[in-house]
Amino acid sequence: MADQYVQTRDGEESPRLASLRWDELPEGPVLILLDQRRLPAEEAELVCTDVPALVQAIRTLAVRGAPLLGIAGAYGVALAAARGYDVAEAAALLETARPTAVNLGYGVRRAAGAYEEAVGKGADAQEAAAAVLAVARELHREDAEASERMAQHGLVLLDELLPGGSHRILTHCNTGRLVSGGEGTAFAVALAAHRTGRLRKLWVDETRPLLQGARLTAYEAARSGMSYTLLTDNAAGSLFVAGEVDAVLIGADRIAADGSVANKVGSYPLAVLAKYHHVPFIVVAPTTTVDLGTAHGASIEVEQRSGREVTEMPVSRAAEQEAEAGGLPLAPLGTQAYNPAFDVTPPELVTAIVTEEGTVSPVTGAGIAELCARLRR
Ligand code: MRU
Repeated sequence: MADQYVQTRDGEESPRLASLRWDELPEGPVLILLDQRRLPAEEAELVCTDVPALVQAIRTLAVRGAPLLGIAGAYGVALAAARGYDVAEAAALLETARPTAVNLGYGVRRAAGAYEEAVGKGADAQEAAAAVLAVARELHREDAEASERMAQHGLVLLDELLPGGSHRILTHCNTGRLVSGGEGTAFAVALAAHRTGRLRKLWVDETRPLLQGARLTAYEAARSGMSYTLLTDNAAGSLFVAGEVDAVLIGADRIAADGSVANKVGSYPLAVLAKYHHVPFIVVAPTTTVDLGTAHGASIEVEQRSGREVTEMPVSRAAEQEAEAGGLPLAPLGTQAYNPAFDVTPPELVTAIVTEEGTVSPVTGAGIAELCARLRR
């Protein structure tokens, strides 16, 4: 993998990032992750030989971001099937590894369904495992295609909303190759704008507490050769006041039937700021992130994470080490912390939701229902 990572030269894109890949090693099949906990300091691989290792990687954010979680979940079921573990048990473990991104359950259920179907048709263990792997690969490929189509739809929308195109786009968290089978969601739109000369600047929120913006989006932006500037989350308000933001582009972890959007904590305050300053607030997500089974934003389960992510500064990005040794204290010992990983933005604050199937705007329950009806045809 090492030769896939080269130094970015000014204005040039670096080779493709592979955030995850399946491999057949002499000792058996494995899922290999680019360990996102160690970025940007180190481009290290994490080899998962079993489902508990993958579940731990998901919980500690070695692999993360809604679309990639779906792909990883599907490969996790494939790993269980290929190594002869109990597939139903593995699927249950994977599906509940993190609660908010609906893609995880989608990928796991789709892969587990393929296994059950194959077994139901009389497939032996090897044939059933091959069927699951084929579905995981299919999901991976579909997500890459969805990325491309979201980027195209996103560019059309930017042209409509901001004619003349020299955009200053603000983004939050990380939504590029690191979360996707392709070039991502919101970041893929920014990248398409960059490649077509429409992007003046990408403003990158650092995204406390785990710094997905500073560590990961800045890393991807640097590799792409685009102009980008990092800011603390608290600085966004003053950027809006200064008239420096033309649009906000973010991803989503779950979109409810009413159009409410769960995304990385800090997204909702940006939506409020954008509304106040009359700046478009655009959500870019594949249709696998839409969950008609969740009626309203209030029904979305928001993951609560350890307070230590807030009260301690990690001494190392190696999460195993952090868990053992702890980080440098940022607050007095024993301080309680409120640490939701996501927040929910109501549909009335969202200008548009861009999917691979097209754009929903205005964002309403009826618009989401119409999008999903199109999918079923
Ligand atoms: O906790 P994370 O890092 O998994 O959160 C990821 C996000 O919130 C992303 O913005 C979201 O998954 C959309 S990525 C296309």
